[in-house]
Amino acid sequence: MIVVDGLTKSYPATGGTGTIDALRGIDLRIDEGEVFGIVGPSGSGKSTLLRCLNLLERPTSGRILLRGEDLSHLSEGRLRGSRRRIGTVFQQFNLLHCRTVRANVEFPLEVAGVRRTERRDRAETLLELVGLTDKRDAFPSQLSGGQQQRVGVARALAAEPDVLLCDEATSALDPATTEQVLDLIATVNRTLGVTIVVVTHELSVVRRICTSAALLDGGRIVESGPVADLVADPVSRLGDALLPAGVGEQNGDVTALVTARGSAVATPWLSRLSRDVGVDVAVVGGRVDRVAGTDIGKLHVRFDGDVDRDAVDRFFAVLPDVTVAWTTGVVARVGA
Ligand SMILES: Nc1ncnc2c1ncn2[C@@H]1O[C@H](COP(=O)(O)OP(=O)(O)OP(=O)(O)O)[C@@H](O)[C@H]1O
Ligand SMILES: [Mg+2]
Repeated sequence: MIVVDGLTKSYPATGGTGTIDALRGIDLRIDEGEVFGIVGPSGSGKSTLLRCLNLLERPTSGRILLRGEDLSHLSEGRLRGSRRRIGTVFQQFNLLHCRTVRANVEFPLEVAGVRRTERRDRAETLLELVGLTDKRDAFPSQLSGGQQQRVGVARALAAEPDVLLCDEATSALDPATTEQVLDLIATVNRTLGVTIVVVTHELSVVRRICTSAALLDGGRIVESGPVADLVADPVSRLGDALLPAGVGEQNGDVTALVTARGSAVATPWLSRLSRDVGVDVAVVGGRVDRVAGTDIGKLHVRFDGDVDRDAVDRFFAVLPDVTVAWTTGVVARVGA
């Protein structure tokens, strides 16, 4: 759906010579229907990447393909048309304060030259989707932050985009309101099938709604993949930050990280492992949480005495939705 290929973006350094390399070669693939999170420390290039994706900025080099069409080298005229395929939700809402809620939602359609009755119908449908039908005639200053952001989401969806981009869309909101807006974004993804890219510095956002994520650092992607895979990967920085399971000092003990997804979280695999393979197992860390709508359990275990690793691998290989990764010595992954 979205393919980013060797993307770089440099800015002239302020007051001197040289450049600031905000993006240093980004390769990314975002599939249709995903909620894709882009996380990373301040200054890592998240907003720059998003501004390249929504065509507010031209890349220095590299390509951005949306459903196979190269957006990075379009003429200004073609660019305007393509911008309509991408909706953006901003941190500070960016609503027009002299316009009513409905007129804000209608605004992109007005710019696109859509007829009045059609604009009105579309705005009403979207206001219903975001739960603000009764606020249609209010002005932004009469709304709470969460309500204003729901208007922002409705407006971003007005032109029926293929992709919705959110840059720190919940960072100006309190925790309870954040959850409501995140649930709305997930609903939009589910009911309208819109692919969503969220840029955030909050891992809780990724945990709650993202199906895949990438970690950006110093203008480079250092990790990316399905959130559940990252969480199950014992050497993933992002996976450990999303769901820490205490993988730390091992003192030469034989240890492994066992990850279970969905209904497998509730299976009594630990006692079966001990019984079937004949090993003593101690739990040295672990956590169960809901990540991207699925229960994921991570258990860090230590094996005492002589352990037959092949037998342990065979035990886990036939358990659906449970994977084991040895965290002592060479890291091996088994199963899905
Ligand atoms: N218009 C600009 N001109 C010059 N330098 C810029 C410009 N925009 C961004 N930068 C620089 O590019 C780098 C990446 O900035 P960017 O805003 O993309 O980071 P970010 O990951 O969004 O950070 P934050 O989490 O603080 O929002 C920074 O070093 C920043 O100073
Ligand atoms: Mg930013």
